[in-house]
Amino acid sequence: MTTTKASSGGVGGGNQLVLESIKYTRGSLFVLDQIQLPSKTEHLPVENCSKCFELIKNMNVRGAPAIAITAALSIAVELEQTSFADGDAALFQFVKTKAEYLLKSRPTAVNLGNMVKSLIKYCEEIEHEELNNSGDENGEKGNKREMIVRWCEDMLETDIRHNKAIGEIGAKALLKACCNKKKLKVLTCCNTGSLATAGYGTALGVVRTLHEQGRLEMCYAVETRPYNQGSRLTAYELVYENIPGTLICDNMAAFLMQKDEVDAIIVGADRVAKNGDTANKIGTYSLAVLAKHHDVPFFVAAPSTTLDVSTKCGMLIEIEERPGEEVCVFKGERVAAEGINVWNPAFDITPAWLIEGIVTERTCLYKNKRGEKDQTGAAFDIG
Ligand code: MRU
Repeated sequence: MTTTKASSGGVGGGNQLVLESIKYTRGSLFVLDQIQLPSKTEHLPVENCSKCFELIKNMNVRGAPAIAITAALSIAVELEQTSFADGDAALFQFVKTKAEYLLKSRPTAVNLGNMVKSLIKYCEEIEHEELNNSGDENGEKGNKREMIVRWCEDMLETDIRHNKAIGEIGAKALLKACCNKKKLKVLTCCNTGSLATAGYGTALGVVRTLHEQGRLEMCYAVETRPYNQGSRLTAYELVYENIPGTLICDNMAAFLMQKDEVDAIIVGADRVAKNGDTANKIGTYSLAVLAKHHDVPFFVAAPSTTLDVSTKCGMLIEIEERPGEEVCVFKGERVAAEGINVWNPAFDITPAWLIEGIVTERTCLYKNKRGEKDQTGAAFDIG
């Protein structure tokens, strides 16, 4: 295959190279503006929850885990600015109201909903604790605000730890599915890397691990129209870390597979239903169909915060529809006729039967539990 270098400008167009999507210190939160990448690397301040809502909705910050973590940290930041003279009941009410508000910013990724549920549950637990059973390491007893802030802060470290575990488990699963081939050619879509998480990434974390292990020949990234997470963000991460990468347009994937250039596909997820049906970036389903046709193993990688046992199957997942301008306007310029109708679903559902394995930080889930190819059409049971 002949590939060409796309430009000589370098990652970030000469700007300082930064791969940290979330920058947090106590009381201060910044997110890397993913709309401006790769031409500009700029971190935007997130002063409060309403700013966070706006940045999530506009996709300045995006990716299922990154959205949830940023939302939690925006609550932490706002807690630092607020005093609760009326006591802990007012504090808990404040957190609950802010969390429920943030939940409305984007509907499909369940990580945000799972974060909100867990945070509210944590508030309820500490609300009922005895004062002398709680407190921080400085011996300050019963500082519930401090406890909530720390709960939010913990998400950053936990996510990176989970991503590294996903990387290890996923790399092993892919190699096994490819009969332990020496080096793999892996295809991925959207952006599931450091930018979409607290760091390292999920599906792209698996690619990173394969690379670290010397087992990656090539990572093919599909452009991922209309928002171009593949070309703008994944390509950026691959170049940044010197991981062998090749960018293709979405409609080139079939031909690439026909030419036997793809050993395995690994994608992220925004929500995995109980039976394993998976909502992920629009275009994922067509890759899964192509993978089945070409007998390429198709894997999903996601932390357990992306699993939604309360949703029975994919049909019940709400799919976000985004403005038509994302399809019709490119870099400020209109590329489609005025007046044309546009349909712009941000995600699609890949049925479980097309998925070989679902990699989490704990294990790789298989339908038949043995990690063998499953052609039976069976569903998963994620728990
Ligand atoms: O619309 P986005 O860019 O937020 O969609 C992101 C994806 O679909 C990712 O593949 C998914 O969230 C996993 S991110 C680790």
